Amino acid sequence: MIPVIAIDGPSASGKGTVAQRVAEKLNFHYLDSGALYRIVALSAQFQGIGETDENKLNQLTKSLRIEFKEGKILLNKQDVTESIRSEECGILASKIAAVKSVRDVLMNVQHQFKQHPGLVADGRDMGSVVFPESMLKIFLTATPEIRAQRRYNQLINKGISANINDLLQDILERDRRDLTRKESPLKQTPDAHFLDTSALTIDQAVNQVIQWFSDVSN
Ligand code: CDP
Repeated sequence: MIPVIAIDGPSASGKGTVAQRVAEKLNFHYLDSGALYRIVALSAQFQGIGETDENKLNQLTKSLRIEFKEGKILLNKQDVTESIRSEECGILASKIAAVKSVRDVLMNVQHQFKQHPGLVADGRDMGSVVFPESMLKIFLTATPEIRAQRRYNQLINKGISANINDLLQDILERDRRDLTRKESPLKQTPDAHFLDTSALTIDQAVNQVIQWFSDVSN
């Protein structure tokens, strides 16, 4: 049996950072499922495919060659690690993520990440749809204001200019889309631990996840 830790939560909650550190500590593989939706969005933008053109999006998603290699994300051998992180790409990703046939194609891609000795997967539907068998499920969140501040710091540190009020509006809009869509909406499953990181440091959040994992492993 390959253990999976599913960490789901809303936009900019810090789940990516926490999931990555937990994976490092346990020496597990890491799946950033949001990056897959961002890659589809970036490619659709390049090719001028609209967010509602289900057939073309399906074909496009099937044709993508995605590699996660030494901390870099490659799309058809090109490094897209930075370009998929823009707010514009995130907003388009959240629209394309509502398309069922895109989600179906990416489902198989995501399953391939489940390998020994274990996997930490972060996203919106890791515990509810993609890996319902997860050994540990976590719903990680923070208040919208704190998430906007975290996203602001993240963008500024990367040298990308940002406006905190615009970011807060984007986050609220993205929450609305992720929570209300028909396909795999963001929701806390009854078997998931709730982790509000509003007042926690990254280390505290990571330690809490490791503690829960050791509880379920013993
Ligand atoms: O960086 P942020 O937390 O805003 O988003 P992300 O995790 O990079 O994901 C980008 C978008 O993909 C999200 O707004 C979701 O709508 C979508 N997504 C999804 O539908 N299912 C997932 N498992 C992961 C992301």
